[in-house]
Amino acid sequence: MVVDSITAPSNAPANAPEDLVAWVAGVAELTQPDRIQWCDGSEAERDRLYAEMVDAGMLVALNPELRPGSYLARSAASDVARVEGRTYICSEREEDAGPTNNWAEPAAMKRTLASLFAGSMRGRTMYVIPFSMGPLGSELSRIGVEISDSPYVVVNMRMTTRMGTPALDAIAAGAVWVPAVHSMGYPLVDADGEPRPDVAWPCNEVKYITHFPETHEIWSFGSGYGGNALLGKKCYALRIASVLAREEGWLAEHMLILRITGPDGRVFHLTAAFPSACGKTNLAMLRPTIPGWKVETIGDDIAWMRPGADGRLYAINPEYGFFGVAPGTSEQTNPTCLHALAHDTIFTNVALTDDGDVWWEGLTPEPPAHLIDWEGLDWTPGCGRPASHPNGRFTVQAEQAESIAAEWEDPTGVPIDVILFGGRRAHNVPLISESYNWSHGVFVGATVSSEQTAAAEGLVGALRRDPFAMLPFCGYNMADYWGHWLHMGEVLGDAAPRIFQVNWFRKDESGRWLWPGFGENSRAIEWALRRVAGELGAVDAISGRIPASGDLNTEGIDISEADLAALFALDPEAWSAEADLTEEYFAQFGAKVPEALKQELWNLRERIAAVQDAAE
Ligand code: GTP
Ligand code: SPV
Ligand code: MN
Repeated sequence: MVVDSITAPSNAPANAPEDLVAWVAGVAELTQPDRIQWCDGSEAERDRLYAEMVDAGMLVALNPELRPGSYLARSAASDVARVEGRTYICSEREEDAGPTNNWAEPAAMKRTLASLFAGSMRGRTMYVIPFSMGPLGSELSRIGVEISDSPYVVVNMRMTTRMGTPALDAIAAGAVWVPAVHSMGYPLVDADGEPRPDVAWPCNEVKYITHFPETHEIWSFGSGYGGNALLGKKCYALRIASVLAREEGWLAEHMLILRITGPDGRVFHLTAAFPSACGKTNLAMLRPTIPGWKVETIGDDIAWMRPGADGRLYAINPEYGFFGVAPGTSEQTNPTCLHALAHDTIFTNVALTDDGDVWWEGLTPEPPAHLIDWEGLDWTPGCGRPASHPNGRFTVQAEQAESIAAEWEDPTGVPIDVILFGGRRAHNVPLISESYNWSHGVFVGATVSSEQTAAAEGLVGALRRDPFAMLPFCGYNMADYWGHWLHMGEVLGDAAPRIFQVNWFRKDESGRWLWPGFGENSRAIEWALRRVAGELGAVDAISGRIPASGDLNTEGIDISEADLAALFALDPEAWSAEADLTEEYFAQFGAKVPEALKQELWNLRERIAAVQDAAE
């Protein structure tokens, strides 16, 4: 953005370096806020913002006896999820964004943004939010500065990133930082100086979530919601970071990180890439139902991974908190998560109870007799509408999870033993399957498909490819990304983590879940870890190596032999059809598809043919 005159006062902290102050002044010049507030990240600052937002009707303070320190936000009905159709990768060359991203020419997009942001903060406070993704001082961490006119963004950034003075101090000490500008696009004064009243959830019909991978910039306009507005998360820690990671030889991934200790005291670390709203938070807080295993949480959404001095792959969680899916969270499904939400939590788009607490579908078997729903309307059971939006979310600091690992802020990260890829697949994909080797694992990751969820606008339930759970988050050409993963396998060699595919979501003909899920997922993970420990053999199958009969620990659950068989059923005809679709899918990437992945498709077809031949 070209801004040549700097007139707005920036009241910057004394140690803010000149380039940062000049950038802030330039954005202020463009967006014309009434005030500029540099955020220090303190509790006093947070409490002041909460009070202002409650006064303005932007937040509901929850009952302090039932939910201390907690608030409810209700978004505009048009601003409830990420907007993938409005998300752009603005690389100089279109092919560097690739066929799975929206692309716009950077200079053209900057012109569009300049007109949208012009005056977009009139009548508002412009917040300057320095933040660190990753523990301050870690070599794996990165700094950013978000400018936003949304106080909701400030209080959420405080919980999901390490926000405030320490991050500014890192910049003052010379750290490189990524500039990220956000505006709700709802100025309180128009260009003629006419005021207009504020609303509970300001946003704009026009939305642009834009990334400039070559200049490492982020500009986001028109939405106040989660991944559209908290720019440290998807925009920086995934889209921009994936570009940095490729340049610098590391990985920025849509993955949870957990630490798991076996009955013999052996410790493993695992990451898992599942698409949005497909179970990362739940797995990160897993309570194993099999005796002797213990899971501790390190991250629930994003992993940054880099080869360490010993050649193994080390992961950190760049985030400071969780922005997770509320519906479905209960004492039965995820008690650890539910307990973390007992206090100091921001809820967005869930229902309000008559006694000032929150409720969402799945929290209790019976809904309360009366609620105020996520749109602020009276709600009674059977009225035909969900009380909570299916993408209703909570924001909470990670340290509130009783399962948080002591190592979760370790600046060197944790060494990864196992990587899981998964998605929601009603059919075909088995409960667990081990990749034959790294390149087969990359093929499995590259070809994951999953039924779409409410985490982004679109048709819920539609099956779509979501390679590495990164479809909405890869900042460059997806086929080049696969190439980068293959390259990382070469770098890691024998020290590479083992790759498995999982599917908790398989159904029978009548639509019934075949697998109980949640805590019982520990059974599949136990099998994977015992494979890594060399304790178990396996059966070579179409999808990969699957458990030999009796090796999956089913002691203590009620699962029929027929359901168990159905969970691992691999129909060669169905897999052959999938292979055809994969070939079509790869075709859109043209010559960029790595040879190794074409070879893996060939290998898959060979395994299918071998099964078909044997049956004849
Ligand atoms: P994002 O934050 O969008 O990236 O999502 P996530 O991957 O962290 O998803 P999350 O763990 O919040 O799960 C989303 C939904 O899937 C919730 O409604 C869960 O209740 C449901 N879910 C999670 N694990 C399981 C499982 O093992 N089985 C079944 N049937 N549902 C699950
Ligand atoms: C996702 O959609 O994968 C999320 C939620 O983690 S959001 O931050 O809104 O993108
Ligand atoms: Mn996510």
